Amino acid sequence: VPESVCLTVPKKLGETAIRLITELDLSNRDLQIQQTENSLKIPLISKPSPVALEELKKKLETFKVSVYDFAERKKSHILPFDLLKDKLPAELLDLVPHALDFIGDIAIVEIPDELLDYKTQIGEAILKAHKQTNTVFAKVGAVKGVYRIRDLEFLAGTNKTATVYVEYGNTLHVDVAKAYFSPRLSNEHNRIASQVTPNETVVDLFAGVGPFAIPIAKNQKTAQVYSIDINPEAVSLLEKNIKVNRVEKQIVPIVGDARKAVKQQLSQKADRVIMNLPETALEFVDVACEAIKPEGGIIHYYCFVYDSPEPLEAAKTELEQVVKQNNRQVTKFLFAKTVREVAPYAWQVVVDAQIQ
Ligand SMILES: C[S@@+](CC[C@H](N)C(=O)[O-])C[C@H]1O[C@@H](n2cnc3c(N)ncnc32)[C@H](O)[C@@H]1O
Repeated sequence: VPESVCLTVPKKLGETAIRLITELDLSNRDLQIQQTENSLKIPLISKPSPVALEELKKKLETFKVSVYDFAERKKSHILPFDLLKDKLPAELLDLVPHALDFIGDIAIVEIPDELLDYKTQIGEAILKAHKQTNTVFAKVGAVKGVYRIRDLEFLAGTNKTATVYVEYGNTLHVDVAKAYFSPRLSNEHNRIASQVTPNETVVDLFAGVGPFAIPIAKNQKTAQVYSIDINPEAVSLLEKNIKVNRVEKQIVPIVGDARKAVKQQLSQKADRVIMNLPETALEFVDVACEAIKPEGGIIHYYCFVYDSPEPLEAAKTELEQVVKQNNRQVTKFLFAKTVREVAPYAWQVVVDAQIQ
C-alpha cells in the first residue's frame, strides 16, 4: 500500500480543499481520496511548500498535514502521463502538464513549447484518462480583449465548445469559445454568495455567464441582482442559466457597458457591487462608487498586482485612493487575499471593502 503525504479536512471543507489542492498543483492523482465518517483524506504529491501552506491556512478553517496509506486509484483513472510513456521521448515526459482545467466535459490544457509536436498525443491521452471528458483544447496565448476570452486550439474528442459546469450544486451553461469562464474562481463565487444577506441589492458589473449571480440568487431568496456584461454571448448564456436555475424573479440581465448601465438605471441602488474585471478594475471604481447606496455598501474589488512585495497592501491602497477621489471613503477593509498567482510575481487579488 503506497504511503503518501496527506491533507485531512472535515468533510464539509472537502470540495474547497480539493479545488485548492488542484490549484496549488499538489494533487496526487495516482492515489484514491479516502473518506472517514467526518473527514476526507486527500493524497498530495509532496509536502506543501511554506507558500502553499500559507494559502491552505488562509482558505481552510481547519486541516492537518500527515502521512497516510492510500489505495491506488482504479485502472480507469490512468493518468495521461502513463499513457504517454511510450509515445514521448523520455526527456520530455517530465514536461507533460499535470494541471488541467475541467469545465464540464471539456478539458483545457496548457502545452509547453517543447511539447507542441506531441499535442495531439497529449490530447488523446487526456481524453482516454478522464472518462468524463469528451473534448480537449489547448490554451493559445493569454485571455484577451474586452470580452476576456482566450483562443483555444482543438486537440481531441468532439469539436464543440459549449458545455455544462456544476459548481457547488449550481448548473452553469458555459461556452469556452464565446464567453469568459474560469473554474479556478469557484471558491470565490461561493465565498461572495455566502455573504449576501436578506433583501440586498447586488450589482455585478462584469457578470459573465453568471457564476456570482446564480449562487447569490439561489442562496438568498430575497436578494435582487443586476448582472451586466458587454459580451452579448455571455449575457445569452446568463439568461439560460437564470432559467435553468429558476431565478428569473431575482436576476436582471443587462447587455452593455457597465458604466452606461449604472448611469442609466442603477445609480445609488446597490448594497454590494462585484467588480470582477481585474485587468482594468481601477478604471471602474468610480462606477462602483456611483452604484453604491448613499448610506454605503460593500465592494468586492478584483485586480492584478505586479511585482509588489505586499500585493494585498498595494491593492488596498490603490482602491482606497480612487474611492476617495470619487468623494466616498473606505470605512473598513473586510477581507483581502491573493486569489491566485497568474505569473511569477503577478497576483490576482481580491479586496472586500466597506465604503460610505
Ligand atoms: C474576467 S470576466 C468575469 C466574468 C464572471 N464574473 C466570472 O467570474 O466568470 C470579465 C467580464 O467583463 C465583461 N466586460 C468587459 N468590459 C466590460 C464593460 N465595460 N462593461 C460590462 N462588462 C464588461 C467581459 O465581457 C467579461 O465577460
